Amino acid sequence: MKALTWQGKGSVSVEEVPDPVIQEPTDAIVRITSTAICGSDLHLYEVLGPYMHKGDVIGHEPMGIVEEVGSAVTNLRKGDRVVVPFNISCGHCFMCGLGLQSQCETTQVKSKGSGAALFGFSELYGSVPGGQAEYLRVPHADYGPVKVGSELPDERYLFLSDILPTAWQGVEYADVPAGGTLAVFGLGPVGQFATRIGVQRGLRVIGVDPVPERRAMAERHGVETLDYGKGVADQLREMTAGRGPDAVIDAVGMEAHGSPVAGFAHQALGLLPDKLAQKAMETAGVDRLAALHTSIDAVRRGGTLSLSGVYGGTASPMPLLTMFDKQIQVRMGQCNVRRWTDELLPLVEDDADPLGVMDLVTHRSGLEGAPALYEKFQKKEDGCIKVVLNPGA
Ligand SMILES: NC(=O)c1ccc[n+]([C@@H]2O[C@H](COP(=O)([O-])OP(=O)(O)OC[C@H]3O[C@@H](n4cnc5c(N)ncnc54)[C@H](O)[C@@H]3O)[C@@H](O)[C@H]2O)c1
Ligand SMILES: [Zn+2]
Ligand SMILES: [Zn+2]
Repeated sequence: MKALTWQGKGSVSVEEVPDPVIQEPTDAIVRITSTAICGSDLHLYEVLGPYMHKGDVIGHEPMGIVEEVGSAVTNLRKGDRVVVPFNISCGHCFMCGLGLQSQCETTQVKSKGSGAALFGFSELYGSVPGGQAEYLRVPHADYGPVKVGSELPDERYLFLSDILPTAWQGVEYADVPAGGTLAVFGLGPVGQFATRIGVQRGLRVIGVDPVPERRAMAERHGVETLDYGKGVADQLREMTAGRGPDAVIDAVGMEAHGSPVAGFAHQALGLLPDKLAQKAMETAGVDRLAALHTSIDAVRRGGTLSLSGVYGGTASPMPLLTMFDKQIQVRMGQCNVRRWTDELLPLVEDDADPLGVMDLVTHRSGLEGAPALYEKFQKKEDGCIKVVLNPGA
């Protein structure tokens, strides 16, 4: 089959790779009809490069049609249409029982000290072949895949694989009091959905992003917006009676713009041999903390900071004095996709499309267009906000 593979830092290509086969009784094989590119794929492209191997199949936002199931998969049949969550979870361990599927004890990548295995996400998360491919082997298919209807287009359902539950969890964790104000840093796909969910819950929502077309998209959905710049925390305070928003979601992560030494740190990481770069990534921190530090500055005293954006490193400096003094609560983590999908399914199927899932995708292509679109998405060129690939097209 054809699949998108990682070839080196900043380089991906479509290659012919062996078709996946059933390996465990709980596996299924899914023929992929739609599969999206995520902001998290950009970390593989750059910062997580040292954990990738040439030829790794990437992608973790897939959906499609079940082609084959293992003997223990009784909930699915050939021909079913499914969305595949990006974390691989068993559904019956202690963590899954708590609704912490991203910490699944059956699939945790213990050798790396990581949580649940993820599709297409480097050796840190189990080196599981990903979903930007014609076919995908889905482990624990007796629990993970979400069965969906056959009438509506793929785009109604596709974002259940990751960004919609991620945004939902971000808003849940933000825990904004009724009628309160939520600020969202980063209006990429995750931030877009987080702001819309906030609006749908009757909150005042202010989105912050340096990219004009991303702000324009948010404004279409009832969100006030601000450009990212030095004075943004002051602006947020001015808009909220001098206190700051009740909660801030950071949907930026370690690709943030505006950190002075960031470019250098990223580049330096790119120049080191893999082993050294892994060490640097684990111990040194990523130096792209502009959005995170501004979020801490902006949130009101006693407020909540909810991190959806992914960060790394143990030496990333944090303003602990301010965090303590302001009594800020911080919640974060990889999304527990299956915890939220039952609640989200009726919303994406609703005729009125209350979360605007049909207003996100800006670029579509067959698999062969993926390398060019990775670049476009990373550089935010051509109004690119969300890319969907259709491997069968
Ligand atoms: N927690 C999870 O389970 C989970 C799931 C999916 C994605 N993510 C993470 O969420 C983050 C966002 O993902 P995405 O797909 O929306 O990607 P994205 O890269 O398109 O979005 C990031 C946005 O942040 C903006 N930005 C950059 N610097 C900024 C700054 N200083 N202030 C305000 N905005 C700034 C960019 O312009 C962009 O619009 C990534 O870190 C991704 O890895 C986490
Ligand atoms: Zn993703
Ligand atoms: Zn589990």
